[in-house]
Amino acid sequence: MSPTTECRICSGTVTEFFDLGRQPIADAFREPGSTAEEFFYRLAVGTCADCTMAQLMEEVPRDLMFHQDYPYHSSGSTVMRAHFEGVAKRFLTTELTGDDPFLVEIGSNDGIMLKVVAEAGVRHLGVEPSGGVADLAAAQGINVRKDFFEESVALEVLEAHGRADVVFSANTFSHIPYVDSVLAGIRALLAPNGVFVFEDPYLGDIVAKSSFDQIYDEHFYFFTARSVKNMAAASGLELVDVERLPTHGGEIRYTLALSGARTPSAAVRELLAEEDARGLTDAAVLEGFAASVARNRDDLVAELRRLKAEGKRVVGYGATAKSATVLNYAGIGPDLLEFICDSTPAKQGRVTPGTHIPVRPPEAFSSPYPDCALLLAWNHADEIMAKETAYRDAGGTWLTYVPEVRIS
Ligand code: SAH
Ligand code: TMP
Ligand code: ZN
Repeated sequence: MSPTTECRICSGTVTEFFDLGRQPIADAFREPGSTAEEFFYRLAVGTCADCTMAQLMEEVPRDLMFHQDYPYHSSGSTVMRAHFEGVAKRFLTTELTGDDPFLVEIGSNDGIMLKVVAEAGVRHLGVEPSGGVADLAAAQGINVRKDFFEESVALEVLEAHGRADVVFSANTFSHIPYVDSVLAGIRALLAPNGVFVFEDPYLGDIVAKSSFDQIYDEHFYFFTARSVKNMAAASGLELVDVERLPTHGGEIRYTLALSGARTPSAAVRELLAEEDARGLTDAAVLEGFAASVARNRDDLVAELRRLKAEGKRVVGYGATAKSATVLNYAGIGPDLLEFICDSTPAKQGRVTPGTHIPVRPPEAFSSPYPDCALLLAWNHADEIMAKETAYRDAGGTWLTYVPEVRIS
């Protein structure tokens, strides 16, 4: 019998389909040699029989993940900067053209998106609990409130600033287990024709690409059009549009409006039909996913051991939060991976959570180049390959594990 738990959305029964074992906080990079005790929890995922929402079986306390030293800086990727500039510009020419419009962003991080809205002189507010990244945004003249967005905060924002034409959230809404409070707050905050737009990894892409490392403490929910439609309906909101995005390995931009305010697009109907035809949240499909991930893990470890036995130097590229999942699940430590290079200053000089692999600045990659690089930031593959052409010219190879283990 698979373990079960209660659905955070509808109180139905969530049945586990995949166990990734004991895992640390994915973004808790440590001082080398630190003797502080590490927090571990059991990372497993299940789906609800009633509302179909895929979700973690155990919740990690939010203050352990999002705090002053949260090390993820959204602006570290030029591709993501261009993406969010496009998002902001689109809002500025569509939803934000009325009289004195107002946009609220949940999880504004270092201001990657709000920068463009602020520069256009449009009223905005970021709600961001991680102090360090919130300060980086504020230093650029962006309005930020340091808080976890929830109903009480939404009501205070409403009182202080009035209704919002757009509530936007990228790679954050899926991080929030307490969606009932968040959605109640959004419903109160939205103008009658306002929209809540959010972008998050798509379960359909995770299953299709076996991208199991999208599963870690911060990613609590794995959305589909069907589960989002069900979740919205329970909160007086309605799913009115979906758009597939290439970002972070495959995401969907969902648009919710107050129930009855807007007509759902054909894209919503088409994606719901596609998901039903695939049986996306059927037990057989999810069990197939779990089996293919276990195979990938075994192949990856075998490949790293083979390279080591041949005396090859192998390093990691991109100390992503995702890499905590793959490294801890596969038991990959400094014996198999000499170090991981990463462009984020807050991660450099530290070691990875659980597996204690040193993180070094990008310059370490070329001095001298390794024989092989494990591409942990596979979602930024195009950007990284474009900047590391000299590595390949020097005979270097890339080891990837999504959708399958491959050296190229
Ligand atoms: N939107 C950015 C940041 C994603 S990282 C991007 O797409 O790159 C997730 C962010 O959500 C972190 O900065 C974290 O501090 C923030 N966060 C987590 N819980 C939150 C909550 N309840 N309300 C607002 N932000 C939250
Ligand atoms: P993400 O997958 O959660 O966006 O994290 C990407 C990580 O990879 C982040 O720590 C920054 C790092 N990175 C590099 O080191 N070099 C790069 O060129 C890019 C795009 C990211
Ligand atoms: Zn449910």
